Amino acid sequence: MRELAGKTAVVTGAASGIGRALAERSAAAGMNVALADVEGDSLRDAVETIEATGARAIGVVTDVTRPDALRELANRTLEAFGGVHLLCNNAGVFAAGGAMWETPVADFEWQFAVNTMGIVHGVRTFVPILLEQGQEAHILNTASMAAVTSSPLSAAYFSSKHAALSLSETLFHELEQRGAPIGVSVLCPELVDTRIGFAERNRPEIFARKDDAEDHPERDLVAQAIQTFTKTGAPPTLLADRALAAVRENRFYVLSPAGNGWRRACETRLDDIRAERNPTFVATTSND
Ligand SMILES: NC(=O)c1ccc[n+]([C@@H]2O[C@H](COP(=O)([O-])OP(=O)(O)OC[C@H]3O[C@@H](n4cnc5c(N)ncnc54)[C@H](O)[C@@H]3O)[C@@H](O)[C@H]2O)c1
Repeated sequence: MRELAGKTAVVTGAASGIGRALAERSAAAGMNVALADVEGDSLRDAVETIEATGARAIGVVTDVTRPDALRELANRTLEAFGGVHLLCNNAGVFAAGGAMWETPVADFEWQFAVNTMGIVHGVRTFVPILLEQGQEAHILNTASMAAVTSSPLSAAYFSSKHAALSLSETLFHELEQRGAPIGVSVLCPELVDTRIGFAERNRPEIFARKDDAEDHPERDLVAQAIQTFTKTGAPPTLLADRALAAVRENRFYVLSPAGNGWRRACETRLDDIRAERNPTFVATTSND
């Protein structure tokens, strides 16, 4: 979708981090923006910041784990702007689980509900609208380099992102094979300086840890590591700019500039699969 000005973007997880940067950069490109998030106060702040630039924006408190909330988001966007052209399924959460067998069931359920099913609900709600519109449009899903690698102590997050990537690739094939004028991209960032390390702030009661959630020291280590490492990450605007460039150029895979071993980890994984050898562990925080 080469021309963005005058069109409408919907961004989930828009109150913080990468989503907020996507919303701000879309507005700066001349788009109307519908910002969706569960965090009402930060959402209002993000909308006001965009409106202060003269762009048109609305904020809709939206929980992407709920299909009815996505439907409401679509209705409010169509009422406000009359159409939708760019859908960014970006909302995501990280919970430090520990070893897979010690990770609470609620952690799996919450991360899959937001990181994976959030994309499913977004696609199921908006693709019929985009097809009906018949205009050029684009869907950008936020996965992660966690989608192409595997790492100890974060099974739920990594596997939810593998699923997000697979959904995105499938959607690309399906829309292309139907000749629909709808492009698809998947954003796979390395570390980004956002509040993902503090995602617990938004864990709803229905995904609260229950009796199987004994404390494990590894869980605290992972929680501290994600907070520390993300601080060293790229600014969210860098990823938003790369993503919008990919939307304009209709490119599918959108990565961070190569940096912390993630691309090597992905290549090693593919080499392991090709050679049918056992998985090699590759550290992903070294600077190479
Ligand atoms: N920060 C990184 O290092 C990094 C790396 C790779 C991928 N990602 C992905 O980027 C995306 C954005 O995360 P971020 O890093 O900007 O984190 P962030 O915490 O700064 O922003 C995520 C936003 O999603 C919102 N959110 C959480 N649950 C929601 C729900 N159920 N419905 C709607 N909104 C919800 C949060 O309120 C928050 O505003 C996520 O999908 C994340 O997995 C982040």
